[in-house]
Amino acid sequence: MKDVRRARSRRLPAVFLAGAAFLALTLAAIMPARPQVPLPEGWPRTYHAEVDGLALTPPMGWYPWNAFGQEPQNEKLIKEIVDALVASGMKDAGYAYVGPDEGVCFSRGTDGKLTTNLARYPSGLRGLGDYIHAKGLRYALYTDAGTKTCSQAMPGTKGYEYEDMKAFADWRADYIKIDWCNTEGQDIVRTYAELGKAQRAAGRPVVHSLCSWGEGYPWTWAGAIGHMWRTTTDICGPGQADWARAVRIAFANEKLAEFAGPGRWNDPDMMVVGMPGLSEVQGRSLFSLWCMMASPLIAGNDLRAMDKPTIDILTNLEAIAVDQDPLGAQGHVVWNDGDVSLWAGKPLFDGSRAVAVFFQGRTKARLRIGWEEVGFAGSDELFVRNLWTHETTGPHAGGVDVSVGGGDVAFLRISKSKDFPIPPIVVADTVLVKLKSTGARPETLVGTVTVTNKGSHDLPPWRVDPRSLPQWLKVSITASGKTQTFVNTVSTAGLKKGAYHALVRADNVEPVSGKAMSAFYYDVDFEVGRNVRR
Ligand code: GLA
Repeated sequence: MKDVRRARSRRLPAVFLAGAAFLALTLAAIMPARPQVPLPEGWPRTYHAEVDGLALTPPMGWYPWNAFGQEPQNEKLIKEIVDALVASGMKDAGYAYVGPDEGVCFSRGTDGKLTTNLARYPSGLRGLGDYIHAKGLRYALYTDAGTKTCSQAMPGTKGYEYEDMKAFADWRADYIKIDWCNTEGQDIVRTYAELGKAQRAAGRPVVHSLCSWGEGYPWTWAGAIGHMWRTTTDICGPGQADWARAVRIAFANEKLAEFAGPGRWNDPDMMVVGMPGLSEVQGRSLFSLWCMMASPLIAGNDLRAMDKPTIDILTNLEAIAVDQDPLGAQGHVVWNDGDVSLWAGKPLFDGSRAVAVFFQGRTKARLRIGWEEVGFAGSDELFVRNLWTHETTGPHAGGVDVSVGGGDVAFLRISKSKDFPIPPIVVADTVLVKLKSTGARPETLVGTVTVTNKGSHDLPPWRVDPRSLPQWLKVSITASGKTQTFVNTVSTAGLKKGAYHALVRADNVEPVSGKAMSAFYYDVDFEVGRNVRR
């Protein structure tokens, strides 16, 4: 048993937010600090997420590299994973972005254009995207900023930035991870900035995930270009988790806390929870640290073969609520005696705060957390919610006693109130509406997208700007309890035979100020079988 008696303060909690939760939430979403390092001439000095409203909370999803490496990534595997993501409850917990990593997806033809590797992806990369969208999930694809991807199996974007980002938009990618292999002689800021420009030119908003493993200090500039950036080397080799490496990565990533915020995230790599080589306790600890650091929660295990403890960890909504908190603060280490570290600096939207005690020793550590160490007043009487046992105790005066086993974590939420609300977690039944008309007489067709808030805190209403829609499409929104339905009405009168497409953007509007907070996108595909009379 280790008794930890004195806490040395290494860093004070950085952020003190006052006022109503909605006001704080709005400020955090629309008034982030500016990027610090000079960007290329003419580049906007704002955070990119202010434009597209994407990833204002850390992206959640699944990527294949940790479990599989390059083999056997193919359409069948990705579809099986997608089905498992839905069936396991991970979709309902907020995981949405899914797709192939470096899985030999495409090659470059003699005309310079990318073409799908149909041997591996027989439905085409667009077909795979449609499958994912029909499940209400988001499509993630991978490429590289250099001449070739890391294993050299696929072409990189160098010299083809605009063509390739257009191909990704045509395949309907919602998320693009861009690696930094084979980039000798390239300026990192200019290269990623050009790719960001190419994405905008392609016209489909995407989460831009930069993957330079910390090279070029992306946390100082990448928020103007994309939404998240890797801060370290890979967390493991394919197939086997590496506990020591994952812990080192967590301690490297926490030092970058000040650079993270809504729409701009430090990415300590895909998770290793549920992979061979990691115990349940270790998985729980790493998941807690990833949530404390507001890290993208991209699962990296084989979702088709999860045991119950793995599912319970990955779908713990109380832990996810910390990660997905709309204030977007990244927690960090307040003190560390070598074995025991106290993680705080994570104010949450309701005035509560998340705290983690991580014990790297072998037996058990006992300590007292004082309220002043974690951002409250010493005189406060506070309730403590254990985010793994789901028990609330208190009110406690001055602090709380905690004991933690070897490799384990105490993951707590501390509040003046007994209630611990879960912020909105948005889950859609589909993000692809497909409609088809066959007759020559005018008709009206309707298709819906239903969005359910899995959190306990209310989700403000969505709004679609009618001026952003093509003439043939109208969108109205109905609300019932935790569900909002987008009713898409299409009139065929006067339309010519052909395929029509619209990308609908809805903004979630803060009810007091009327400011847009986050955006939700979906596709409407409409096929007109014959010319239609007026
Ligand atoms: C790099 C990235 C990994 C993975 C591989 C693919 O190592 O950091 O996450 O994408 O490339 O080759």
